[in-house]
Order: sequence, then structure tokens, then C-alpha cells
Amino acid sequence: MAADGLVLRRPCPADAALVHRGTHDPLVREFLQAVVPHRDTAAAERWLAEVPPLLWRTGRAAYFTVEAAAAPDAPPGTGEPVGWAELVNIDPAAARAEVAVWLLPEHRRLRTAKAALRLVCRFGFERLGLERIDAYAAADNMPSQLMGAAIGFRRAGYRPGAFRSSRTHRLHDAVHATLVPEDLC
Ligand SMILES: CC(C)(COP(=O)(O)OP(=O)(O)OC[C@H]1O[C@@H](n2cnc3c(N)ncnc32)[C@H](O)[C@@H]1OP(=O)(O)O)[C@@H](O)C(=O)NCCC(=O)NCCS
Repeated sequence: MAADGLVLRRPCPADAALVHRGTHDPLVREFLQAVVPHRDTAAAERWLAEVPPLLWRTGRAAYFTVEAAAAPDAPPGTGEPVGWAELVNIDPAAARAEVAVWLLPEHRRLRTAKAALRLVCRFGFERLGLERIDAYAAADNMPSQLMGAAIGFRRAGYRPGAFRSSRTHRLHDAVHATLVPEDLC
């Protein structure tokens, strides 16, 4: 899927440098749960070859590389990988999933994250038939909350100690927000 100068595509082993950097980034490790920092790009390459395809096949999660499009009609895989988006805990019976996005530091604060989040949610609604997408942002992660609110997520609750930082292992309180297709903007 493509829009706003971004392409959302399936990850491939050539994304190892992106994944290696992302999993070592302090904010990614602080605000996402269970981020394992790959030892080197070869380890990231092996993980990319095995894990995302398996999760796609079993329908448990849909992982994406976020790419800055090389040109408006350029094919996927020709742009620059700038970040990652994922739909996890996909529950086909309830037509729900959870979403998370991260960007490499030099691509933050450019409104790219909003566009990436919009794309991955569109994928969930249009291609997976989801009826609801949830996001759990740490209470002290204001960029993440603003990014969600900007595309239509509504606050649905507050979860004390909801998840553990991958970096410090301390518990974060989380703001639960939810998106339904008619609110996506
Ligand atoms: C969360 C993240 C993806 C947001 O990316 P981003 O590129 O900064 O987001 P955007 O440029 O689309 O901006 C989203 C909003 O947050 C605001 N914002 C971004 N960084 C900010 C900061 N450090 N302090 C305050 N506001 C900030 C922007 O101004 C914008 O709000 P606005 O439209 O009202 O101006 C990025 O910070 C990131 O990768 N963080 C690490 C991983 C993470 O926390 N992921 C989310 C876990 S669910």
C-alpha cells in the first residue's frame, strides 16, 4: 500500500540495517515491549528471513517496513526504509488487532509517523477486514499519543503498569486508544 510519499511493504532480509538500528534505538526500546536488540545485521537478517514470514503465514501478526517512496509511482523496495509498522495480536473472530509504529530518529517530527500509522490502519481495515484497532501508548510517550489522535484514535482507557520497557524493564502506565474505520482521517 502507498500514500503520502510512503510505501508500506512486507519486510525482507535486505531491511537488516533498519531493524538492527531500530532495535537498538533507546526510544524504541523504552516504549515498545519485547524488543530484542539484534547483535549485528547478520542476526537481524536471519530474524527477518524467519519470523515476519512465519507470523504473516499463521495470521498472528502483520509486520511492515515503512519506506520513503523513491518517486510517486516507483515500485516497492526501491525507496529508503525509514521505519517499521506492525499489527499484532490479530484476532480474526473479534476483527481486532493492536498497532505500533516506530521510525528511525532522523525521520521523526516530520509527520511521517502519522502517514505511516494511517497506512497500516488502512491495511488492517481494508485488507484484513478489521473493525477495530487498539493502540497502547506509554503515558509519558506524548508523540505516540498525538500521532494516534491526529488520525482518529479516541481515548478508551488508562491501564496502570500495562507494559514493561524493553530497555529498563520498568512498568509503564499506558493510554489505551482505539480506532474504528469511520473515524480514520
Ligand atoms: C512515536 C513516533 C513514531 C512519532 O513519530 P513522529 O515522526 O515524531 O510523529 P509525527 O511527526 O507524525 O508527529 C506526531 C505528533 O507528535 C508531536 N511530536 C513529535 N515528537 C514530539 C516530541 N518529542 N515532543 C512533543 N511532541 C512531539 C508532533 O508535533 C505531532 O503533533 P502535531 O501534529 O500536533 O504537531 C516516534 O517518535 C518514534 O519512533 N518513537 C519511538 C518508538 C515509539 O514510541 N513508538 C510508538 C509506540 S506505540
